Amino acid sequence: MSVESMINQDDSSVTTEVVNPFRVGDEETIGEAPCALVIFGASGDLSHRKLIPAVFALRQGGYVDSHNPLIGFARSKKTDEQFRSEMSEAINKFSRFRSATVDAVDAFTSDLYYHVGDYSDPETFIALGKRLDELAEKHNTKGNCLFYLATPPTSFEPILKNLKISGLVDESGGAFRRVVVEKPIGSDRATAQTLNERLHDSFDEKQVFRIDHYLGKETVQNILAFRFGNGIFEPLWNRRYIDHVQITVAESIGVGSRAGYFDKAGITRDMLQSHILQLMTLIAMEPPIAIRGESIRDEKVKVLRAIKPFTRMEAIRNVVRAQYSSGVVDGEASPGYLEEEGVPEKSQTETFVALKLEVDNWRWSGVPFYIRTGKRLAKRVSQVNIVYRRPPLAFFEAFGCDAPEQNVLGIRIQPEEGISMSFVSKRPGPSFHIDPVRMDFKYSASFAKQTPEAYERLILDAILGEASLFAREDEVDLSWKLIDPIIESWSGDNPAPLYTYQSGNWGPEESSALLERSSREWLRL
Ligand code: BG6
Repeated sequence: MSVESMINQDDSSVTTEVVNPFRVGDEETIGEAPCALVIFGASGDLSHRKLIPAVFALRQGGYVDSHNPLIGFARSKKTDEQFRSEMSEAINKFSRFRSATVDAVDAFTSDLYYHVGDYSDPETFIALGKRLDELAEKHNTKGNCLFYLATPPTSFEPILKNLKISGLVDESGGAFRRVVVEKPIGSDRATAQTLNERLHDSFDEKQVFRIDHYLGKETVQNILAFRFGNGIFEPLWNRRYIDHVQITVAESIGVGSRAGYFDKAGITRDMLQSHILQLMTLIAMEPPIAIRGESIRDEKVKVLRAIKPFTRMEAIRNVVRAQYSSGVVDGEASPGYLEEEGVPEKSQTETFVALKLEVDNWRWSGVPFYIRTGKRLAKRVSQVNIVYRRPPLAFFEAFGCDAPEQNVLGIRIQPEEGISMSFVSKRPGPSFHIDPVRMDFKYSASFAKQTPEAYERLILDAILGEASLFAREDEVDLSWKLIDPIIESWSGDNPAPLYTYQSGNWGPEESSALLERSSREWLRL
């Protein structure tokens, strides 16, 4: 498929074909990636909502086929048939191809299998090995296998150990064996290091794929296309022209049914350590020598190394944490965090964090990166705003105009994915007045295709062995190195305060104060 054929200005012809711009030109790989997929934690929410629908979408797009049988591995007893019918329900409910024909769903689910077992019982894994051998024959998988750990982290260790004991990680026969690990990778630097050690007890680093679904989002990958595929932006992407950068990842939902996990994690571990630092590295990194393989990860690591780590005092000064109280979100009354089901009475867990980071390198020295993320904020929106410096002369004041607003390049990750540029323009008429105006690019208007879900791209990449969109061990380690002092500043003597904000707002006032200190403000989203 040519790039031209993917571009269609006519909005009305939106189809459901899978489009993966980074894979254009890679058609030789389509349908030629024989490999069994084993999902540990197949009864869980992630598997129902995201993984199975993603594999089904890949199948619909012809990226995988009957050479890719899938085994759901979980503790509850059920038959293959029961599993198949549950998964077809999940497809009907959560897939972007939910209107696919019954035949298409049946063709897919007939290649699904179920394996009941205890993660800590080596016998179950030996039985899994036998099952994989049978399926290798039946589906001609060539013995290749991708293990997906979609369980709570407490199960990672026994699964990894038993995969090793039962010989399932052995690649000496020529077939590949890979493991995909879901976040969270640890809860601090030490636990992440331990988990990485456990991973390496069983797998080589090149077999390990640490998933961060933000990297699978089309708009996140588009940051690379935008920066390095255009001649006009990269020369302006530095301290000479940029005043500061704002990154907002706001959610209107609360903690929902995940209080058990979230209350231990908090938003800093849940969003900042992973998704947001990944996003930031793509914005701040130097051009990689190639857009594949290790090159991108090498550059991202350099950014993480260049971010100035906080001392305790700096963390207290430059980080704001807060928890939501009751309020109104999307027109509906919503409870405070402490009233949510499963949240401990006196929980001190932060549901919002805002901070100022500095990247101490040649490109970014002196350009602050302001970041905020939280639950139960005014709306669901993820956006990066690159705010440019003002022009050197305030020419228009002579005509009674206010100082022109700063130019802003807005990269909208979700929803209404796109890119906008704000600049000033002369207001029509005899006087010389200037007003801010905007140029907009909207994905939905330019590309007449449905955007693939992040997990589709990532699962396919793991099957194909392309690791550039997965977090490498050193990335995880360095991001925890930055996060640990922040979390530590919230305990011990004189801990940083925990503020509150009303649900449906943009966080506490202190978040705005963080920018006001240097006469800046959060831009409206
Ligand atoms: C997950 C977090 O990784 O990302 C959730 O654990 C969060 O708390 C989710 O809601 C946000 O993902 P998305 O794709 O909806 O922005």
